[in-house]
Amino acid sequence: MHRLVSISILFTGLVFFNSYAQNTSSTRDSINQYTQIDFLEMKKTLEIQQENRPGPSGNPNDANAANFDENQVRDYTLPQLTTTQSGMPVNSVADWENRKRPQLIAAFEQEMYGALPDEIPAVSWTIKSEKDTVIGGMPIIEQHLVATVDNTIYPELSVSIEALLGIPKTENDSGIPVVVQFGFLNSPFGKIEEPRSYFISPYEPRFKEQLAHQGWGYAILDVSSIQADHGAGLTSGIIGLVNQGKHRSPGQWGALRAWAWGASTLLDYFETRTDIDAGRVAVEGTSRYGKAALVAMAFDTRFTLGFIGSSGAGGASLLRRNFGEMLENLASPAEYHWFAGNFLKYASIQTVDDLPVDAHQLIALCAPRPVFISAGSAKIEGQWVDAKGMFEATVEAAPVYELYNLQGLGTTNFPFMGTALTSGELAFRQHGGGHSTGPNWSTWIAWARKYWD
Ligand code: GCU
Repeated sequence: MHRLVSISILFTGLVFFNSYAQNTSSTRDSINQYTQIDFLEMKKTLEIQQENRPGPSGNPNDANAANFDENQVRDYTLPQLTTTQSGMPVNSVADWENRKRPQLIAAFEQEMYGALPDEIPAVSWTIKSEKDTVIGGMPIIEQHLVATVDNTIYPELSVSIEALLGIPKTENDSGIPVVVQFGFLNSPFGKIEEPRSYFISPYEPRFKEQLAHQGWGYAILDVSSIQADHGAGLTSGIIGLVNQGKHRSPGQWGALRAWAWGASTLLDYFETRTDIDAGRVAVEGTSRYGKAALVAMAFDTRFTLGFIGSSGAGGASLLRRNFGEMLENLASPAEYHWFAGNFLKYASIQTVDDLPVDAHQLIALCAPRPVFISAGSAKIEGQWVDAKGMFEATVEAAPVYELYNLQGLGTTNFPFMGTALTSGELAFRQHGGGHSTGPNWSTWIAWARKYWD
């Protein structure tokens, strides 16, 4: 009896979290509580009794502060990029595409980001509303897109994915390129507004304006409409729907992969529209959304350009480099939901050195498609994201681009802030602003024009 009551309370709670959470402290407490339940459930499934090692603090004044000192960076060995699991050298595009790439995809899926389910319910996108607007002097049509996910397998949960699409009105009738931004719409009550200012830089014209001036479109994908950004939400959203409300098994997708899948369904829809050139769709995002953008680029080869902002640990920065955020932070109850359950092993019974993959390999999975790794200034953004770790991962990814006769960054020396390393298909720039891609948009666009002109 007692058990039944608690299951039904749990169920009601989880359905509640499927809707937009109000930012009240009691909601936060409940989210933390259900997150803890899911986290411990996963550890039980993995049969891990050991406590997770705590990650370091981002506050340099704390006793357990993360390392922010280059001199304290340890020696580490990265997993091989150009040797297969059986020790065969990867000397050609065929070796890479037929042997090594599939091995890496499997390892990233199994141990880090999780695999897509074999069957995902059908998604149907519709234009819920549209309006004419003017952005930076350019006439634009903005459409509020909503995708309904078929929930016949589990009607208790429903998932509707939202996006805001902006299409400049141009003479171009062959379809325009679109940049998909992982982000959020301020739309808990169905009202579409400008995205919140968190990731928007005051330093440059807004990205919408800059894209519109190129005749390019933008789509802001509301990631939390796909999958909530906390462990409590793992039994709802698209992950919960596919699992029919049950907890995940250890190899299943985490939120980053689910968000990336959401972008892929948007691209499926773009393929059906004649006003969009689905062969020229890029992904962009900052921070956790930068991680999601990189995951989308790595796994879905239809995305042709990437703009990966301040993605840090779990994104473009090398996890083995002990600087700023560490694997133990990612595998904590605050962030483990971004990953597959198996990832928890590496912060408890194993260590980062046992992880079969690292960020240079994730970047290499984007090859031959061009990808731009962006960071903010260490002084303003802070060093948690480890700009140098992202630079080094990009350097290490170059050998795969070179197999395609494409170019990496052209240097192995960490550049001065503001230097645009944009001559190759791997690009890097640390701008002078904060935790945003904002001040890098014009540099990104100038680089992207090489491919989209
Ligand atoms: C935290 C987290 C980062 C993440 C960031 C964000 O700082 O540790 O990994 O990128 O939040 O998304 O804002």
